[in-house]
Amino acid sequence: MPKAKHLKNTKTPKHKNTIHMYENPRLIIDSSNPPEAGSITWRSPSNIALIKYWGKYGRQLPQNPSLSLTLAASCTDTMLEYAFKEEAGDGQIDLEFYFHGEANEAFKSKTKAFLESLLPVFPFLKQLKLVVQTGNSFPHSAGIASSASGMSALALCLCSLEDALFGTLQDPADYDKKASFVARLGSGSACRSIFPHAAVWGETPLVAGSSNEFAVPVAEQIHETFKNFHDDILIVSQDEKAVSSRDGHALMDGNPYAEARYAQARQRLATLLEAMRSGDLATFGKIVEDEAMTLHALMMCSNPSYTLLRPNSLVIIEKIRAYRAKTGHPVYFTLDAGPNVHLLYPGDIVHEVRAFIEDELKDYCEDGYVQQDWVGEGPEEM
Ligand code: PMV
Repeated sequence: MPKAKHLKNTKTPKHKNTIHMYENPRLIIDSSNPPEAGSITWRSPSNIALIKYWGKYGRQLPQNPSLSLTLAASCTDTMLEYAFKEEAGDGQIDLEFYFHGEANEAFKSKTKAFLESLLPVFPFLKQLKLVVQTGNSFPHSAGIASSASGMSALALCLCSLEDALFGTLQDPADYDKKASFVARLGSGSACRSIFPHAAVWGETPLVAGSSNEFAVPVAEQIHETFKNFHDDILIVSQDEKAVSSRDGHALMDGNPYAEARYAQARQRLATLLEAMRSGDLATFGKIVEDEAMTLHALMMCSNPSYTLLRPNSLVIIEKIRAYRAKTGHPVYFTLDAGPNVHLLYPGDIVHEVRAFIEDELKDYCEDGYVQQDWVGEGPEEM
């Protein structure tokens, strides 16, 4: 067989452990010149996917590219304090963890396991005593996923710490790429929160430089309208989800529609990107709503089947569609892996839409709770 042909037919194994991309055993502190103790704080937002990531392989790699808007109000503040350990210790992560000022054992053990998995990337972490203080801008019980904001804030702190100690991430694009990579290892969708306005995660010929390993910014490719979009989150239920995102992704492996779904996501991304470039709100809204419904349809036809939507989620969806038909306002919904409905609309109709929420939607929200959010500028160092 000719060599070239042979090579062409050789696919990279899908399940390779891709942490190697940033493995760097040289990131070790010189103990004869230890750093002073210090702290780093980042505020990082959540994001809402318009093209959904649902189904993964290997270590948090997506089966299809996804696109999200970066939010502004739903965010996590994380402070990472560090001090050099004079005693080498046992090579383990030395961590204290506080959530809203209180020690939290569950979060601590998850974070510790995550940091341990990152030792090939940040080997200096085992030389430090670390304290993480973190908190969200929204009530923990609100049913708003905090993994995207939380994991991106932590990833940013880790990259800033690397840069403070070694000066290795001076280039802003390199910095963002690594922060997005590390955030992805913590929670897939978190990798998109690093960038202002909008981001794409997952390899696609539509976006130069796109990758399964990290997200890339696409703000420059979208119309100004979308940089002034609102996302008011209608909290239908604050209960813990019956099926976690992790289990939901896993159920895609046995879903008979999986391959068709991944192909559909790629096609929809092309249509959505074009609509977002040109500012075509009607096409935008159609794709975004279809994506939301597809996500939940995939859950309903998983084996075992499950439903995260609640009766009030459907009432709200119907009311949004009726309001749009009646007023002609470009108001659309999307959903993440839960019962809450995200109401998406351009900033120039904020007064009309807020009145609509007040008059017609609030009654269907648990305790009348609505988290107002909008498209934001991305994370900030505090
Ligand atoms: O990042 P995860 O594993 O929590 O999965 C997120 C899945 C969705 O929110 C439903 C879609 C997405 O792309 O964010």
